Amino acid sequence: MRILITSALPYVNNVPHLGNIIGCVLSADVFARYCRSRGYDCLYIGGTDEYGTATEIKALEEGVTPKQICDKYYAIHKGIYDWLGISFDIFGRTSTDKHTKLTQEIFLDLHRNGHIIEEETEQLYDEKAGMFLADRYIEGECPHCSYNGARGDQCDKCGKLLHPGELINPLSKVTKTPPIKRKTKHLFIDLPGIEAELAEWVGRASAKGEWSENTTKIARSWLREGLKKRAITRDLKWGVPVPLPGYENKVFYVWFDAPIGYISITANLTDAWKEWWLGAGGGGDAGNDKDVRLYNFIGKDNVPFHAVIFPSTLMGTKKPWTLAHHISTTEFLNYEGGKFSKSRNTGVFGDDAKNTGIAPDAWRYYLLSNRPESADTDFTWNDFSDKNNSELLANLGNLVNRTLVFVKNNFEGKAPEGTMNDADKAFLAQQEKLVKEVTADLEKVKIRDGIHRIMALSKCANKYFQDNLPWELVRKTDKPEQDAENRKRAAAVMAVLVHQVRDLAILAEPYLPFTSAEIFRQLNLPQAKWADIGKPLPADHQLGEPKALFRKIEPKEIDALKAKFAGKNEQKPFSFADLDLEVGEILSVEKHPDAEKLFVEKVRLGDGVRQIVSGLAGHYLAEELVGKKVVIVRNIAPAKLRGVDSEGMLLAAEGREHVPAKVEKGAGMEQDAVEVVFCPESQAGQKVQRMGEKSAPKKTITFKEFGTVKIEVRDFAVVCDGKPLAAEGTVLRMKNIREGVVG
Ligand code: 2FM
Ligand code: ZN
Repeated sequence: MRILITSALPYVNNVPHLGNIIGCVLSADVFARYCRSRGYDCLYIGGTDEYGTATEIKALEEGVTPKQICDKYYAIHKGIYDWLGISFDIFGRTSTDKHTKLTQEIFLDLHRNGHIIEEETEQLYDEKAGMFLADRYIEGECPHCSYNGARGDQCDKCGKLLHPGELINPLSKVTKTPPIKRKTKHLFIDLPGIEAELAEWVGRASAKGEWSENTTKIARSWLREGLKKRAITRDLKWGVPVPLPGYENKVFYVWFDAPIGYISITANLTDAWKEWWLGAGGGGDAGNDKDVRLYNFIGKDNVPFHAVIFPSTLMGTKKPWTLAHHISTTEFLNYEGGKFSKSRNTGVFGDDAKNTGIAPDAWRYYLLSNRPESADTDFTWNDFSDKNNSELLANLGNLVNRTLVFVKNNFEGKAPEGTMNDADKAFLAQQEKLVKEVTADLEKVKIRDGIHRIMALSKCANKYFQDNLPWELVRKTDKPEQDAENRKRAAAVMAVLVHQVRDLAILAEPYLPFTSAEIFRQLNLPQAKWADIGKPLPADHQLGEPKALFRKIEPKEIDALKAKFAGKNEQKPFSFADLDLEVGEILSVEKHPDAEKLFVEKVRLGDGVRQIVSGLAGHYLAEELVGKKVVIVRNIAPAKLRGVDSEGMLLAAEGREHVPAKVEKGAGMEQDAVEVVFCPESQAGQKVQRMGEKSAPKKTITFKEFGTVKIEVRDFAVVCDGKPLAAEGTVLRMKNIREGVVG
């Protein structure tokens, strides 16, 4: 029997938060470590899910390639999981050649078997860019709440799901031009044609593999409603190409290829991947050692894909692919009573956790003992420190430390031996029962119950220590014979306890791998496995040096973290809408009395004249500026620059100046330059906004806050987040700078 373990492949373009981490990678890690400790032939597969619109748009916004985005975030994910001790056999990615090949083969099998339907649909098309637009590439006004930045698939303001056709005044995100409707073809997977076979499988597999209740419920509800055909192609570039003529400009929908990533990542690990995935008798039915049991670890929102759509895809190929044996689905982890959210910056993310300096096992313990296994659970800082201090430290840490220190001080660090009495035997029988229960929990992927029981085991061992009073047994009296008897008894008690410590280190390894390794170091023993539980220690064994396993998290520290994250979570990042930009006319320009590089300008705005100090003296002559229309940031906090008052800021761009090609020289050239954002066609007092938007400026913002809003020059146009800036409909354009930043 082989065990194949997968954790959902996280979208590459986000830093995972604690909810994502407990949702799949960490839960699967416990199971994988347990399986290895049992000696099962197992593989744990993970990786990043890299294709799709989200990556492509992020790349467009950041001005880099999708591949560059993926490389950057792949490294971030990997760094976090390495720190947390996630023991993937491979942490791969979906953007590989093997992945493309396998996805295309699976598609062609479906096609050959008549499970692919082609349909003509009407879709929005960007004539200027010459491309069909995926839903997220279209922006416009939300028909429900009138928000102007709604996307073709969803409005971020009111949260409603949308269809691109519903947007008012839709614009292409690529060229900012209105798209037109045009006919195109898309491919669909014929789920209704596979439904009967799938329903039969869900019934059988969910019972046999004891799927978690939430998994079965969601799968059944999909089947009850009846499956519908689903589109599997998209108009994007960043994805797996569709190997059919006429589909050269389309790729597979990311959810079609992502789960195939489990297979392709395995293939990138081992040439023997087919032994795991194909023809191995997947599902545990064959009962031989080639037989593979697949365990999927996922969050609740991924159930339809793992219990319905992906199995249908594999079944439709009519090849003997390994299908899920067990699907372990978590509910949601909330953050201090609310939801984790990257876009609102709410919650603790993997890199935050790492940066707190609190050991990874403290995080693992809290997340695993609080795993949202059957209902949502909540992360709170207070609970986190309480559990660290009162459970990890006061229970497990205390047992290990007091046992090893006692042996060091009273038995010269040598693991004692002794004869057990009936009470010892009864105690051990009760502990053995707990060990069996932990094993049963883990076999059934009841991860949270498992850790609770391990802590119960540790608590019983502490009580045993307490009840047997070994510190009194080693106290010398004036009765040497009695002392010798007592010492024997102390040795027997401590022998039991050292064994308990060793067994606990084995049991805890899947949950707390760093702690387990440290206990083995202190025991001066090689890391032992599940089968060693209950086995004797080597004779005359000399233990290592005891050391505290955990550190207390002080109330002061938690208060500081709470404050830090409260700050982080409440702080709204500054956006363009916070700025008050207005066209002004320069009335006069003078040299700053005290600084060579500064000019002091008088600028007429809509409501009067203001004095502004700018750093333009090295770049312009005063007479080149007088009379010109420029853009002023009105709400920047007033400041004294080298002793002269300045009430506002004048926008200028810094970047590459384009020197047009001279006929005899051939291509044009570029050089670094500074250029004021002039707006000759506009009137003083006109507001400058992003095309089609209205700002709601803050009263004042600091210079630093202004710096967090990225205004740039792209192909001579002044843009913010890819949207052009305009003064009452007139787009701001640079004369010479083609690419640069505005400040
Ligand atoms: O929800 C997510 O993060 C998806 N990227 C999960 C994909 S799981 C698997 F199919 F790759
Ligand atoms: Zn809306």
